Amino acid sequence: MLTDNALQILNDRYLLNRNPKETPDELFRRVAKYVANAEETNKDIWEQKFYEIMSNLAFLPNSPTLMNAGLENGQLSACFVLPVEDSLEAIFTTLKNAALIHQSGGGTGYNFSKLRPKDDLVSSSGGTSSGPIAFMKIYDSATEYVKQGGKRRGANMGILNISHPDIEEFIVSKSDGTSLQNFNISIGITDSFMKAVSKDKDWKLVNPRTQKIQKVVRASKLWNSITREAWKTGDPGLIFLDTINKNNPIPEQGRIGSTNPCGEVPLLDYESCNLGSLNLTKIVKQEEGKVYIDWAKLDTHINVAIRFLDNVISVNHYLIPEVERISKANRKIGLGVMGWAELLIILGIPYASQEAVELGEKLMGFIKTKSYDASITLGKERGTFLTWKESLHEPAEPLRNATCNSIAPTGSISVIANTSYSIEPLYALHYKRVGILENKTQIEVNIFFIEKMKQLGLWNKQVEIEVMHTGSIKGLKSIPKEIKKLFETSMEISWEYHLLHQQAFQKYTDNAVSKTINLPETTMVKDVADIYWAAWERQLKGITIYRNNSRAHQILQHCGLN
Ligand code: CDP
Repeated sequence: MLTDNALQILNDRYLLNRNPKETPDELFRRVAKYVANAEETNKDIWEQKFYEIMSNLAFLPNSPTLMNAGLENGQLSACFVLPVEDSLEAIFTTLKNAALIHQSGGGTGYNFSKLRPKDDLVSSSGGTSSGPIAFMKIYDSATEYVKQGGKRRGANMGILNISHPDIEEFIVSKSDGTSLQNFNISIGITDSFMKAVSKDKDWKLVNPRTQKIQKVVRASKLWNSITREAWKTGDPGLIFLDTINKNNPIPEQGRIGSTNPCGEVPLLDYESCNLGSLNLTKIVKQEEGKVYIDWAKLDTHINVAIRFLDNVISVNHYLIPEVERISKANRKIGLGVMGWAELLIILGIPYASQEAVELGEKLMGFIKTKSYDASITLGKERGTFLTWKESLHEPAEPLRNATCNSIAPTGSISVIANTSYSIEPLYALHYKRVGILENKTQIEVNIFFIEKMKQLGLWNKQVEIEVMHTGSIKGLKSIPKEIKKLFETSMEISWEYHLLHQQAFQKYTDNAVSKTINLPETTMVKDVADIYWAAWERQLKGITIYRNNSRAHQILQHCGLN
């Protein structure tokens, strides 16, 4: 059942290097057995359920759980946010903690806005400060040398708020294509900034140390700089802090200032989150030749997955005491999906259609309701999360987990499950994946496409050659329009539909949705501005775009390109 690409990734990164080497089946057994340790009764029954859902590739937890469960001091979470306070000691304490997290396979997000700006006063030395970007560069090079679990390089999210005096430098901090390569960078945006842009007003940059206004710039100037840079390199993205905090389940614990590296989990300082994703291609049933979503099956998968993720919090090994305390107090988990584009193809619904958007909303609505039901059941059985009374959750919702859902990018686990990434459309019908494994290139061909073409008697050498070169069937006259529509790929789908899918899933996701709006190379800066603006208006929690070929190193590539 595992593809060659899946086996290659498992072999290089996940299977234990003992003698003889662990098999994939043993991996799923190891993880299931370890995670079932949180069970007080029926441990064997739960272990079997966990094993089955993973080995059937119907659900997979985030990579650190697959890699580390059952190992001595195995750290199982993918997502962390760490504080960056304005002192040398605090900056380097967090750097040490980040290194430990990266080494275990986790990723870290930080908001650097508390740091005094470049050239500001340092009273202890009588000198001047280096500023947030200089410290980010130190974090970046440390990341370069601490490989995650010896297997992959660490991922970071660096955020600077739009009112920080160094914001202009931050916006262009990745412009050269070589700096901060281990960081995704995002601007912490507020509603008042967006209003200032819309009215073409001045915007104040405030020194976080003195709270004094240091500089005044036109809001639209910053906005234009942001969108131009995003067009040029894909960075910076935006994080909408007010929308995130409007939806913060425990505001008493403070304002959320950052997300994890890919943006799907807004977290407080020191919080961590365990992710897992349901494979949507595994919840279909056939009746009288027609294919349907098997809602009952999906419900069963959600129940097992939520229990699994809650167990992970209990059996996890925590590297940092502060992380253990707050992660156990709030018990945040993030159950999401992968294979959305392939589910739509199975159902015969084009991604770029209103029907698909409506189904996305219905599906995520179902997943949220059933996730909450499962968490409430756990709350009754095991007790609510410690801070539940402080939270905004209803008294009738004795939840075990402060949050239940996140849409993660599933960069590795969707390759293991052999399905499309997260809620993304198909990248291409035929493409190569470069650099996910060091020095190895993987070719990915969409099997649903080939099967469908064979069924329709449309598979021939001409189609094969076209797809190999362009990754698409758009230019082929011999293919009926509705088949072309069904197999539209990421850059052929308008940004509007990309955003509508993100919005549909965000509506029922209590954390956030990680989504990249993939754009053709010909996209204009104005389009990027429109996308960023629309993302704010529609109350998304964040936005990331990527224009084809805008970076020298691109993980997914069409084969015809070189
Ligand atoms: O598929 P996999 O479980 O490996 O991860 P993902 O869904 O692509 O990413 C989920 C989260 O894992 C990211 O948002 C990061 O927090 C973390 N991650 C990381 O730390 N390092 C990476 N190279 C990839 C992901």
